[in-house]
Amino acid sequence: MDSRTSLPLLFDDKVSEGGGTQNNISQNNISQNNISQNNISQDKISETKTAELQKLALKVDACKKCLLCNDRKNAVLGEGAISPELLIVGEAPGFFEDQQKRPFVGRSGKLLDHLIETCLNMKREDLYIANVVKCRPKDNRTPTKIEINSCLVYLNKQVELLNPKLILTLGNTAFRALVDTDLGITKARNNLYSYRNITLVPTFHPSAALRGGKSVVDLMEVDFKKVRSILG
Ligand code: URA
Ligand code: SF4
Repeated sequence: MDSRTSLPLLFDDKVSEGGGTQNNISQNNISQNNISQNNISQDKISETKTAELQKLALKVDACKKCLLCNDRKNAVLGEGAISPELLIVGEAPGFFEDQQKRPFVGRSGKLLDHLIETCLNMKREDLYIANVVKCRPKDNRTPTKIEINSCLVYLNKQVELLNPKLILTLGNTAFRALVDTDLGITKARNNLYSYRNITLVPTFHPSAALRGGKSVVDLMEVDFKKVRSILG
């Protein structure tokens, strides 16, 4: 079944504040209690998420759902914060990612790190980085539709667990895996999309910028700054 969407966007920016002056002491006690209860439930949620992500990593390590399993050294689930505001989605692991079992650690990764730091004012560990397929296609060919559809269940589980505020897709393969369109990035990057009710911003793949030079890097900078301003 195709779970891709391209729905219009809704933003939810409701903030609620409590107030009052009576019974300050007992209210303080109650709010102290609430804080420690909140901490306990936050800790519990984090523990569960970490455990679920570890379980998912083991599943991906053992996965033989498509032929990409034959040539991998390592499956690469992804890495980063467990409650990130931003999920970055690339295409597939390359040579260095397959060797090191980490996403975006080669030349594309260096450019990605630079954009994350200079345009988002973040570090890679503040967000989560994953790919649409978890195993490296030989010679870095584009993954097929069959491979993408076999693997998408894992990215969907990551989206569900991480529940980011925004998804940034890198390149046509990642974009078209999540949004049902034939539009290319050059046109698509003027719009916002949605995947499973999460705002989705498409931009170029860093490898296109490494090939295309400064003009592509400049456009990626514009898109990363757009992400920064949407996140607030
Ligand atoms: N290119 C990708 O799409 N993903 C990686 O992890 C590395 C290079
Ligand atoms: Fe499994 Fe995805 Fe690797 Fe294919 S690419 S073997 S579906 S983990």
